[in-house]
Amino acid sequence: MDFTLIVPAAGSGSRSGRQKPKQYVEILGSPVLTHTLRSFTSLEECKEIIIAIDGTWRREAEYAAVGIERLRFVDGGSERQESITNALSASDPAFPLVLVHDAARPCATTDLIERVLRATETFGAAIPVVPIHETVKRVAADGTIIETIPRDQLRAAQTPQGFQRDILMRAYANAAAHHIIATDDASLVEATGVVVHTVDGDWQNIKITIPADFARAEEIIRGRMG
Ligand code: CTP
Ligand code: MG
Repeated sequence: MDFTLIVPAAGSGSRSGRQKPKQYVEILGSPVLTHTLRSFTSLEECKEIIIAIDGTWRREAEYAAVGIERLRFVDGGSERQESITNALSASDPAFPLVLVHDAARPCATTDLIERVLRATETFGAAIPVVPIHETVKRVAADGTIIETIPRDQLRAAQTPQGFQRDILMRAYANAAAHHIIATDDASLVEATGVVVHTVDGDWQNIKITIPADFARAEEIIRGRMG
């Protein structure tokens, strides 16, 4: 099914230790955002790409997206959720599905995207997840442990997250009406009572967050160049 790709790219990357936002830092000669977009451009069903950016970095964004078709920029907001709200309102309702993918995840494979896409077609809402390997603690402000959380049911959520357009639109409208703020799109959909399905994520689909992640992403991408 045809889909709109929304790429939130308006963050400042405050944890990444770089002067420019992480999505514009170059890995193997191309900006992170370029690698991110390339994962999707081979998919025939990707009919439009809407990127939410901070206008201060427009030149870098345009450079990162050069040569990629059916692509538009919108202004991001101060929260990821606001950036996606703006992108959603600019997107073409003719396409039945919406995939949301972080600009800061340059290592998503076509296989992973296809997995999310097929599950979204079947179930209406689907996201990739991976198990958590570390033991997870809830810790108080004073540094003492409140509890250890059993981890067998815990998963870390990745992107791309896929939704039928109307499901995602309703979730964002509901979030706005009830002032719900979340760090991923599935949370907003869950809040409307819609069941979100999961598919196997990919350990290599990392979100560049801290300084060391640039080298990891570079290694993963280099490994695929063969
Ligand atoms: N994002 C966005 N608009 C915001 C904040 C974040 O579009 N106001 C995007 C980021 O550009 C990134 C994705 O959401 O692609 C995931 O967010 P995160 O990893 O937290 O990125 P930053 O907010 O840029 O980084 P940090 O939290 O370290 O400042
Ligand atoms: Mg952030």
